[in-house]
Amino acid sequence: MTHHITIFDTTLRDGEQAPGFSMTAGQKLRMAEKIADMGADIIEAGFAAASPGDFDAIKGIAEHIDSAVICSLSRCNEGDIHASGRAIAPAKKQRIHTFIATSPLHREFKLKMDKTEIIDRAIAGIKLALEYTDDVEFSAEDAIRTERDYLAQVVEAAIEAGATTINIPDTVGYTTPEEIQNLFEFLSGLKNADKITLSTHCHNDLGLAVANSLAAVRGGARQIEGALNGIGERAGNSAIEEVIMALKTREDFFNASLNINTQQIYAASKLLATITGNPVPRNKAIIGKNAFAHESGIHQHGVLANRETYEIMKPEDIGISEDNIILGKHSGRAALKVRAEKLGFTLKDNQLQSVFIEFKKLADEKREIFDADLEALILGEAVGTQGPWKLDSLYVSAGSDDGRSPEATVSLSHENGETKEAVSESGGPVNAVFEAISLAANCKLKLEHFSAQSVSGGKDAMAEATVRVCTEFETYQGFGTSTDTILAAAKAYLDVINRIERRAVRQASIAAQH
Ligand code: KIV
Ligand code: ZN
Repeated sequence: MTHHITIFDTTLRDGEQAPGFSMTAGQKLRMAEKIADMGADIIEAGFAAASPGDFDAIKGIAEHIDSAVICSLSRCNEGDIHASGRAIAPAKKQRIHTFIATSPLHREFKLKMDKTEIIDRAIAGIKLALEYTDDVEFSAEDAIRTERDYLAQVVEAAIEAGATTINIPDTVGYTTPEEIQNLFEFLSGLKNADKITLSTHCHNDLGLAVANSLAAVRGGARQIEGALNGIGERAGNSAIEEVIMALKTREDFFNASLNINTQQIYAASKLLATITGNPVPRNKAIIGKNAFAHESGIHQHGVLANRETYEIMKPEDIGISEDNIILGKHSGRAALKVRAEKLGFTLKDNQLQSVFIEFKKLADEKREIFDADLEALILGEAVGTQGPWKLDSLYVSAGSDDGRSPEATVSLSHENGETKEAVSESGGPVNAVFEAISLAANCKLKLEHFSAQSVSGGKDAMAEATVRVCTEFETYQGFGTSTDTILAAAKAYLDVINRIERRAVRQASIAAQH
């Protein structure tokens, strides 16, 4: 018998709350649109009570997205549940997700509550949430480390109180596939368990999150929670793209059906990496650069003879386009739009216009524009247009053997009208560029990591640069693209400064509201 599995995407909540992955409300909306295009059934858009910014981001998503259920997280307390109820109110399909921890460690040391108090709080929370929507999910945080008989009592009480989905999180990534399958088999046999959806939410501390989520499905889970690129607290959540492709590719084994349009996976993953400035490792399953690359002679020979010798999925299945039609300087806006759509990017009119302008500039520099170039252009556009600082000009000299140091002269303009110029002769050319930008923007940073790579072939290929810096409190990643590697590096560094400044402005506005 085929089971339908609901995909609950928590990229914008559990994923976004991890250090280095925070997004602005606008970026969250952009990601939510992509996740909705991918066909996720439920989008957990944030934790409404966490901050006014998160509240507004959830509300914005609720106002714009009709196809998916929009969900907000809340602890089992009145303030959180009211905040969630108000934030999701504009959504066509709404869910409140409420949780309380149930394991002995959390009961004793975090909540300082006994077993009965926790059940009472869970029941009260679910009942209050039901006043806003009849779609209420309850999670027993740290369920995996909760005594089985007590967990059974909690689950039965939550069903009785009216929760429609019961989530069993492996909050600390502790379980194993056999153990979680057995637990779901046990929970599926509880009173009225057939009236609700059992859900799995696995963390990846032991690298078992995806395996555990799939095992939970074997045990009776009918909803899987996870995040794109596997982002989330600590080692992350179940990588949702891996779960989806495992269920699709091994349909014969899991007998599962999904609502997902897998061809949107690659674009969604890329957009997330760009927006958060966290590139996907090349060997990452499904979406890494190497996932469909065949380097060794034996493999290449096999794939040429028959792709299935070494490929269990096709790149097209996740939206990596095979017919790498080349665009050039004579290609028009319509061709660009169609090509972008094939790559999974729907460009709205103003976005199409700005990408088209950049495309024409690139076409003047490069004769042929490949998909990877176009993708870098669209994604660069996604981050590059976010101020407040803009790079007006950059001059760099590389230094010479006779002892002349590299030198960078940078000119920046701020959206408040200020313009700044600075010169630096620090270290190598890239260092000099970073130092000059820091001086001009008056923002001193500690560089942790810099990398640049070309995204397509040829000497005029687009380069993608990533910069990671740390401030006293946070780590930030920035991203930049250009046919010139130094310019890509400069854009990535400025992207970091813009992220820091936008965050400071956001925090100041939150503080002013309190
Ligand atoms: O990991 C966890 O326990 C959670 C809950 C809030 C669902 O994220
Ligand atoms: Zn979690």
